[in-house]
Amino acid sequence: MSRVRAVIVLVCASAASLAHAEVALDQRKSGADFMSAATRAMQDDDTANPAMLSTLDGESLWTEKAGDAQKSCGDCHGPAPQSMKGVAARYPAYNVARKAPLDLSGQVNACRTDQQKAEAFKPESAQLLALSAYIGLQSRGMPVSPPDDARLAPSRAQGEALWSQRIGQLNFSCAQCHDDNWGKRLGSALIPQAHPNAYPIYRLDWQGMGSLQRRFRNCMSGVRAQAYPYGAQEFIDLEVFLSHRARGMPVETPGVRP
Ligand code: HEC
Ligand code: HEC
Repeated sequence: MSRVRAVIVLVCASAASLAHAEVALDQRKSGADFMSAATRAMQDDDTANPAMLSTLDGESLWTEKAGDAQKSCGDCHGPAPQSMKGVAARYPAYNVARKAPLDLSGQVNACRTDQQKAEAFKPESAQLLALSAYIGLQSRGMPVSPPDDARLAPSRAQGEALWSQRIGQLNFSCAQCHDDNWGKRLGSALIPQAHPNAYPIYRLDWQGMGSLQRRFRNCMSGVRAQAYPYGAQEFIDLEVFLSHRARGMPVETPGVRP
């Protein structure tokens, strides 16, 4: 069955339950819980998890001097296992210099341009994903801990509004799939709850690493909506909202997905 037909069937099946309900805190499940046992095992075993290779690249990038400043990340921050412990768990965070919320890769690129005086990494570049995965790994097992910061509130509210807004030719909101129909089948895929706690991930379908924004873009084109560009404020807002929605869930970075 094509993705479009599958969505139409889903819309009809759920037409009776138009009111959208949040997933209760104690009903939340990681995306890993919707995977086959084999894919789950791949994520859980560092020697089989293909995303671990990306974290190794991140580890070497961490100590590579770069830019006009000829400084490495480690020159300023010291060893990541100490300095970056728990950092990914509390991103996106408000950045004072930018007067805006930044997600983790946005912060990596802010250090790249402002501190190293180097060119920003391109969105979805191997280096940006590797550094983000390596920093994310230092929070593995720790609870997602969005900062209690009033300056993030407008972004979170905007993210929640976007989450509930119907989009695309199929006229479907994120919430209709991920709050109202999680656990149901959509074509060959099971609809997960859309938690951000394993990103960046290695996705078997991509045969490579990808960010949370890449995943958002896939879902947007799935409902025939025009996807926002990488780094768009809308994506940051969705990330701020999703980290709040996933608060307390353990970080699983780097995840594997089908
Ligand atoms: C028509 C249903 C549908 C809509 C609408 C939809 N998604 Fe998804 N989403 C899916 C499915 C199905 C998957 C899993 C795909 C797979 O595993 O191949 C998914 C996966 C995800 C994931 C990955 C979760 C994980 O555990 O890795 C995130 C995050 C996500 N969606 C966010 C969004 C956002 C944000 C929107 C709105 C802009 C959205 N989705 C709209 C069906 C939908
Ligand atoms: C010249 C020193 C310097 C270099 C080099 C540098 N940073 Fe930073 N970094 C900082 C400072 C200062 C801050 C805090 C202020 C800010 O947010 O910009 C920071 C903040 C961060 C944070 C957020 C920490 C938190 O607790 O919220 C991350 C993540 C980070 N840097 C990653 C990196 C990475 C990855 C690199 C290499 C690509 C790097 N930094 C290179 C100085 C540096």
